Amino acid sequence: MSKLVKGFLITLLVLFSVVIFAEEPILIGFSMDNLRLERWQKDRDIFVDVAEKLGAKVIVQSANSDDALQLSQAENMIARGVDVLVVLPHNGKVMGSIVKEAHENGVPVIAYDRLLMDCDLDYYVTFNLIKVGEYQARYLVERKPEGNYFLLGGAPTDNNAYLFREGQMNILQPYIDSGKIKIVGDQWAKDWLPQEALKIIENALTATKNQIDAIVASNDSTAGGAIEALKEQGLAGKVLISGQDADLAACQRIVEGLQTMTVYKPIKDIATQAAIMAVSLAKGIHVITNSTVNNGFKDVPTFFLEPIPVDKSNIVDTVIKDGFHTLEEVYKNVPKSEWPEVK
Ligand code: GAL
Repeated sequence: MSKLVKGFLITLLVLFSVVIFAEEPILIGFSMDNLRLERWQKDRDIFVDVAEKLGAKVIVQSANSDDALQLSQAENMIARGVDVLVVLPHNGKVMGSIVKEAHENGVPVIAYDRLLMDCDLDYYVTFNLIKVGEYQARYLVERKPEGNYFLLGGAPTDNNAYLFREGQMNILQPYIDSGKIKIVGDQWAKDWLPQEALKIIENALTATKNQIDAIVASNDSTAGGAIEALKEQGLAGKVLISGQDADLAACQRIVEGLQTMTVYKPIKDIATQAAIMAVSLAKGIHVITNSTVNNGFKDVPTFFLEPIPVDKSNIVDTVIKDGFHTLEEVYKNVPKSEWPEVK
């Protein structure tokens, strides 16, 4: 049994024993950037389910990627007396300011997936984000070590977008320095919106006269927008393209040969770990972490989870085996005769 699982189980055991004798239920506030993306809906559902199983009540609010709204929603949660505040920030710099107000009211704060910057943050739970970028770029250069690459970044407001790019450049830089790979464009997609990615890649294809061999897309929603632009030029499936999140639409594109790969970050792992950390914190139980990340103010105790690169060859053994998506959902547009055997 891995150390991670052991840590999980010990924490759960302690929590269950404490919760059984708990007086009033813990109240957790979960402030989320948005619920637009499929993955954030899964994050919310699993987080709430685990937290409630541990005897907590949860208030979830989505800010629709509006910074002022997210700040006021978080302030309102503090006023309503939450015991812990969990924050998935639209903008980690803006939302960092909520930590001071939370602490003034005795409320600890956990950053979820995206870091809160320049503040006395209590804990952070996320996947190894630089490794996500390295997986994306490595997968592409192993298949296309030479040619024209377009860098399609994520939301400039999202600190994670820069960490994915850092990981991507860790792999790409030597190929660029040797002249093997040429970067023919580098744009960032506002709020990770597919329509932003569509516009960016349409313009890039025009500017390069379709001379693009690979697109380093940092997540699946932007990969989806880019693939729509490639389809317009009959290039979908011919240009390599990365992704992240194992969205259902992305998994379908992968088995249909339109998207090259994605990086799967088991949502059940991060949402479960975050719920355990939140209830532990509220109960004054030791919070398990396995690393630290500097946020410009301090080294924040962090729980890092492992991402998994996924393509057609291992999608059954990862995403489908985990129950993240079913075989029928992923292979919906593929003739049944071409479906893989699932033991
Ligand atoms: C990032 C997150 C990615 C992806 C992206 C799109 O912060 O780490 O997994 O979900 O947001 O919202």
